[in-house]
Amino acid sequence: MRAVISLVCAAALYLTPSLAEDGIRKIGLSKVADRDFVEKKLKASDGDVLRESLRHHFEISTGQEPGNIIVKDYQNAQYYGTITLGGNQNFDVIFDTGSSNLWVASYKCWFSCGLHHRYNSKKSHTFVANNTDFNIQYGSGPVSGYFSTDDLDLGGLTVEGQTFAEVTDASGLGLAFMIGKFDGILGMGFDSISVANTPTPFQQLMAQGRLNSGMFAFYLGGADGKDGELVLGGTDPKHYTGDIVWVDLVSETYWTVGLDGVTLDGATYHASETAKAKAAIIDSGTSLLAGPTAEVAAMAQQVGAIKLPINNEYVIPCGMPLPTLTFTIDGKDYPLNGDEYVINAGNGICLLAIMGIDVPAGPMWILGDTFMRKYYSVFDMENKRMGFARST
Ligand SMILES: *[C@@H]1O[C@H](CO)[C@@H](O)[C@H](O)[C@H]1NC(C)=O
Repeated sequence: MRAVISLVCAAALYLTPSLAEDGIRKIGLSKVADRDFVEKKLKASDGDVLRESLRHHFEISTGQEPGNIIVKDYQNAQYYGTITLGGNQNFDVIFDTGSSNLWVASYKCWFSCGLHHRYNSKKSHTFVANNTDFNIQYGSGPVSGYFSTDDLDLGGLTVEGQTFAEVTDASGLGLAFMIGKFDGILGMGFDSISVANTPTPFQQLMAQGRLNSGMFAFYLGGADGKDGELVLGGTDPKHYTGDIVWVDLVSETYWTVGLDGVTLDGATYHASETAKAKAAIIDSGTSLLAGPTAEVAAMAQQVGAIKLPINNEYVIPCGMPLPTLTFTIDGKDYPLNGDEYVINAGNGICLLAIMGIDVPAGPMWILGDTFMRKYYSVFDMENKRMGFARST
């Protein structure tokens, strides 16, 4: 069985689960409109309070259990879709290949959960209490709550007894969550980075025999986010052209592949790093591309981009000719044209879709939605590999 989850722009209507001709199931996923997405960043760069709260987002506190560390704040997440817990409680979640827990706001969460949908176990007939503490530590504070178990509906497929976290304190995500469009996160990484090694929903779908293959694939649609979809249990050939090129994973934590180097107009980056460091993670929960801060600063300087006061992000006047940016993964080139690594903020300002982040486990690159929009990305959990093809 396969399920397909559609990805659409936030401005467009949410698509309800539907059954396509060939039995593929779909759930709507939404995308935060580019302009809203960038505007938030530009505004943020003016506000002292917000700046202060953002300053720590990527500084990961040490001494945590490895599974409890998440290297991002979802400020950079744009795509989300709806899941159902307990038969009839709907939540918009980010389908995030860069983490491995499912969590949603709990009815016991107050201020830090903003106006989000909240899971209420009292309204579910299939709820099973667990009550084990759930904690993820961000540099800026905790996201915490407790585990519960309930049935989860995902694109028309049911996971029986999915253990997830009800979050009662989301203050560690600050405004990214409070004013964000999403009520929670659905992690699609490996359970080795899952808090308490809780099996992910996708692993549960595999274990419960709901899928005919242990892979899922993201198609993010056009720049407007229309018609994107997440397929569970296979791929959707109408959303890519040519053959899928398979790459073995170099670690089963995040979806990590070997990155031979990054080139920009003849200049080579990352290639001189040690073999261990030559890695990239494919992360649907990050909107942009992210690389080591020094490399990204040099790249930004090379193309004449200006640094925003926060987060090692850069802007550039729209329409400036930009060279091709190429990621070489396992010997194969994946080029992005100039217009494919900027996001238009309006008023002639473009955000460079490359930000600097020094990942604790790095140096490594994070290839987020900017990469995945151009390259249909297949995550094959069963065979521990990833596949890439040109998106249609
Ligand atoms: C509660 O959830 C945790 C995390 O998944 C799990 O390790 C534990 O076994 C569960 N406890 C019960 C009683 O189900």
